[in-house]
Amino acid sequence: MFIVFEGIDGSGKGTQARMLADHLIRKGKKIVLTEEPTKELFTGYFTRIILRSKDTPHPRTIALMMAADRNEHVEKVIRPALEAGEIVISERYYWSSFVYQSLQGVSDDFLNYINREFPKPDITILIDIDPETAMERIIGRAHGNDGLVQQFERLEFLRKLRRKYLEIARKEGFLVVDGSGTPKEVHTRVVAALEGYW
Ligand code: TYD
Repeated sequence: MFIVFEGIDGSGKGTQARMLADHLIRKGKKIVLTEEPTKELFTGYFTRIILRSKDTPHPRTIALMMAADRNEHVEKVIRPALEAGEIVISERYYWSSFVYQSLQGVSDDFLNYINREFPKPDITILIDIDPETAMERIIGRAHGNDGLVQQFERLEFLRKLRRKYLEIARKEGFLVVDGSGTPKEVHTRVVAALEGYW
């Protein structure tokens, strides 16, 4: 089974992916907890450097780099684990490209084409949070050293990201989970949303 967590920055999807993995491990399941951009593959290493650099590549280049990293991720991590009967939980997957790179102006045709060979997740969980709350969490993490204008721009961008995520969620039948409250409260909602899947 292939489960994906998606959500805007500051939604808490990473925490929820970890909590679900722990929950399933306690139930005796074999879990592979992973993420995109990848942390252990060379493609993810380069992608993360590029994402942080000032010399921003063209959005289509970013989409291609994400897809290159995804290809390594699928062939080296995801597919082998699924073939071994394990549960794969990934924080972000190609839906992130359909949200972030789409908002950067990359066409759906292009994104569909470069992502078409990758396995479709069985379940995608969107941790939905209002952008103001997400922004507070991001500022908390960054120790408040973001400029005000930057914060405003990011808040606007977070709003667009959320709208796009919700649009895709409706079309693709994601499980949309309210991400407000404590990590434990959200975790309880995630487990409840997954009831009946195993
Ligand atoms: P993120 O999960 O936030 O990792 P980190 O904690 O290391 O910042 O992912 C990094 C960024 O990559 C995030 O802002 C979303 C972006 N991203 C894309 O733009 N397209 C993609 O296909 C993926 C997987 C991520």
